[in-house]
Amino acid sequence: MPPRRRTRAFVGVVFAVCALWGSTLLWRRSEAVEEKRTVVLTAYETQGLRPAWLRQIVEQYASDDYADLIDAILLVWNAPEEEPPSDLPAKVQVIRAAANSLNNRWLLTPEYAQPGPVIVLDNDLLLSKSGIRCLQAVQRDHPDRLIGPYVRRREDAIYVLDELMSRSSPYNFVLPRALIGHTELLDLYRNPELAQLHAYVDEQEAHCDDLLLNLAVSNTTGVAPLRVALPPSSVRDFATYCSPLDRAQSAGLADQTDRWKYRTECLQHLLSQAGFSTESSPEDEDVALCSQDGESYDLVSEVGLPRWRSMSTARAIDLCPELVPERDLAAESRLGLGRELVEYCPELDPGTTEWIDALIDKPLCGDGGAIQDPHLLASAKHQCGAWCMWDLRVRGKTGWRLTGSCFERFEGGHPECDKWFYQRPHMHL
Ligand SMILES: *[C@@H]1O[C@H](CO)[C@@H](O)[C@H](O)[C@H]1NC(C)=O
Repeated sequence: MPPRRRTRAFVGVVFAVCALWGSTLLWRRSEAVEEKRTVVLTAYETQGLRPAWLRQIVEQYASDDYADLIDAILLVWNAPEEEPPSDLPAKVQVIRAAANSLNNRWLLTPEYAQPGPVIVLDNDLLLSKSGIRCLQAVQRDHPDRLIGPYVRRREDAIYVLDELMSRSSPYNFVLPRALIGHTELLDLYRNPELAQLHAYVDEQEAHCDDLLLNLAVSNTTGVAPLRVALPPSSVRDFATYCSPLDRAQSAGLADQTDRWKYRTECLQHLLSQAGFSTESSPEDEDVALCSQDGESYDLVSEVGLPRWRSMSTARAIDLCPELVPERDLAAESRLGLGRELVEYCPELDPGTTEWIDALIDKPLCGDGGAIQDPHLLASAKHQCGAWCMWDLRVRGKTGWRLTGSCFERFEGGHPECDKWFYQRPHMHL
């Protein structure tokens, strides 16, 4: 063989060997990264309404109906002294934790979850198939982000409690009420450098494992989480609609003043540790707005309140009819101003109903007589249930206070209201 041809033949052989080797590697690789779609739930309650919700929730996710969307279900059982619920569907793998710790769902999960997208859900809401599909569709395109519908923001190192639904707003954190993220992201929580912060999360009152997760991920990826608007009617929200109707359950609700203080304290602590800084907590404002069936989505900069509300259309009467008082069966029949107000402030408990009635019936105190103040109403929409209402057009302690018979205007503070100033939404009209 002349040298040139020999060279060519040699190159050909090398090429063929390489191709073969490469394709074996590829094959091995695709075998190694075969992804599983896991759902993770956490529970510890054996009393009250939650055990029944949990059963309903896991039975749905384990049903044949969901089989094309969910490969595995992990239930982190956080009550070491109690037996987990019996007779759960075979698809549910129960992980019994040695101690009741908020860290368990992040520290244990990666050991059990196959590599792939993990949906972490609270045990008080149920997502429809379209909701699961939507999370998975967005996650496929954004594997480097935590993704979910419930978000919060910070202002510098101040935590903001606002729900961020009545106005478009930047956000920094996604809440694990419902979120999806790849195991590689969730694994970042296990970083041994964070051991002290794991301990802190268990001791501190704010239950801020979620803030630590968001920081650990964004510190590495450099990107904010991504907010998603789930498809219409895709959330059965037991916590929001049923808990307020059950006095025994609601009695333990954290005082919101303390909650805001503790969340801020936690955020400030975390931002001073483990090389974290405000740069570890970038913000975004875009929303992945899912289609009705959850198959597709558009990235948009603004989503209106009615669309946010539409995610969860099942009401107490659908979710927990046994808790609904007779007289409430007639609700939902408000018209005009009342209808506008309940869109912003759903009537989840008798207190809100009373408050909406007051806004409709009670005039401004003083010479105005029986007039509705449009400025009061505009501000009220963002301060559901508040008897001290801040005027969101101005930054100071100015607003209206509901007395027995009318709304009284005050400026520069009011002795009955100043202690609620922290509740003023962080927005301006
Ligand atoms: C966060 O990022 C900073 C800067 O890149 C780095 O020094 C630090 O180790 C990171 N912290 C963690 C817990 O990954």
